[in-house]
Amino acid sequence: MSDTWIILGATSAIARAFMRDRAETGATLILCGRDMDDMKASAADLHARGAADVHVMALDVRNAKTFTPILDLAANQHGMLNAAVFTGSMPDQAVIDADPSLIDGVIMDSFTGPAQFLQRLAPMMEVRGGGAVVGVGSVAGDRGRLGNYVYGAAKAGFATYMSGLRNRLGRSGVHVMTVKPGPVDTAMTWGLDSMPFMTTPDAAAHDISKGLRKGRNVIYTAGIWRLVMLVIRNVPEPIFKKLSI
Ligand SMILES: NC(=O)c1ccc[n+]([C@@H]2O[C@H](COP(=O)([O-])OP(=O)(O)OC[C@H]3O[C@@H](n4cnc5c(N)ncnc54)[C@H](OP(=O)(O)O)[C@@H]3O)[C@@H](O)[C@H]2O)c1
Repeated sequence: MSDTWIILGATSAIARAFMRDRAETGATLILCGRDMDDMKASAADLHARGAADVHVMALDVRNAKTFTPILDLAANQHGMLNAAVFTGSMPDQAVIDADPSLIDGVIMDSFTGPAQFLQRLAPMMEVRGGGAVVGVGSVAGDRGRLGNYVYGAAKAGFATYMSGLRNRLGRSGVHVMTVKPGPVDTAMTWGLDSMPFMTTPDAAAHDISKGLRKGRNVIYTAGIWRLVMLVIRNVPEPIFKKLSI
């Protein structure tokens, strides 16, 4: 009986690399996202790599009505259910400054949308008594910075949500892992100024799979970001508020 992985944001480059890894373990994959053509192309590739089965489902995390068919499909899967959240959006902070109404969408894409989905999935996982939830946050959630504090606030909210979900689902044997990437070379960072310690989607997916195997609660990818953020979190606020990092 194969494991099932529900992938929210299956068109993300990091998600694609992670799905390839899961396919090679013979998992069943439920790809969820907005771009059906992109996901259908991925589905063919995942079949070829050994996935037991692949489903492609429409998802907009801003619209909870799209959750129902995915949850119904999940309920009909045998074996352990697992979920991984890759959704998120990061408009330029200057664009948000010019139109603060964009804030709601940023919070929905990274935090409240996925949280609403996971909240509905949680009882199913509790009943089955196992599986894993992977939630991709960001180092941006560790401290509010001048350049992206709305995106950072969404990721901080999601990290706190994941912490509580871990507390809840751990009691039923479900492994809940928060992933905090530093910069990754994907569509999200395309065209931005060069960033330190940038990693690749494949390396990030490798770190996620390793974290799952080791039962980690919170991982940074690349790993150096754990140390960098320890330093950044400990800069005193009177100094930090004058920095433009
Ligand atoms: N790249 C980085 O440097 C970096 C660093 C830290 C954290 N992260 C996080 O890593 C995750 C994956 O990002 P990525 O780097 O792979 O960039 P990406 O390609 O832009 O991935 C973002 C994903 O979120 C999906 N999405 C956004 N809003 C959605 C909505 N309302 N409903 C459904 N799907 C939605 C996008 O779907 P569409 O294809 O339909 O737009 C896409 O699949 C994100 O959570 C991001 O915040 C990335």
